[in-house]
Amino acid sequence: MDDISDIAFYYDTDPASEEDRLARHQLEFDLTWRLIERFVPEGATILEIGCAAGAYTLPLARRGHRIVAVDLSSQLLARCRDRLVSAGLAQQVRFVLADARDLDSLEQTLYDVVLLMGPSTISSFDPTENGHWPRRSSICVQGGS
Ligand SMILES: C[S@@+](CC[C@H](N)C(=O)[O-])C[C@H]1O[C@@H](n2cnc3c(N)ncnc32)[C@H](O)[C@@H]1O
Repeated sequence: MDDISDIAFYYDTDPASEEDRLARHQLEFDLTWRLIERFVPEGATILEIGCAAGAYTLPLARRGHRIVAVDLSSQLLARCRDRLVSAGLAQQVRFVLADARDLDSLEQTLYDVVLLMGPSTISSFDPTENGHWPRRSSICVQGGS
């Protein structure tokens, strides 16, 4: 598996710029949220890979979902937790500091939906390297997406 500690280092060094990213790219957020509303059923349990500072985690929790929020960056994950705590929604979220290419640290829970959003989250997964994408069958309920 490639060493991607440089990605964690990048986000840990300047978490504020990632926190603001979707405010600068409102269209990306709006289009993604539209897809979420269309395809993520109400009440679905969610594994959110690369939650960063919680730009989606917070509205997903407001929508009533239970979420396992995973990120490589301890700084961003802390910001995500702070945001959810401030909104009084942290009890719906489990915050996990991990490289999502290795989800063995999570117990064998199956999720209704797995979300992997944003450019560098996706680029840290190499689909040509067998096994480096989380295997859908091992993390989704039957019929999940
Ligand atoms: C560009 S941000 C996207 C954040 C958010 N999903 C969005 O769409 O705005 C990429 C995030 O994915 C995290 N990330 C990248 N590769 C990861 C991996 N292998 N495991 C866990 N988190 C990862 C980074 O730490 C960062 O918080």
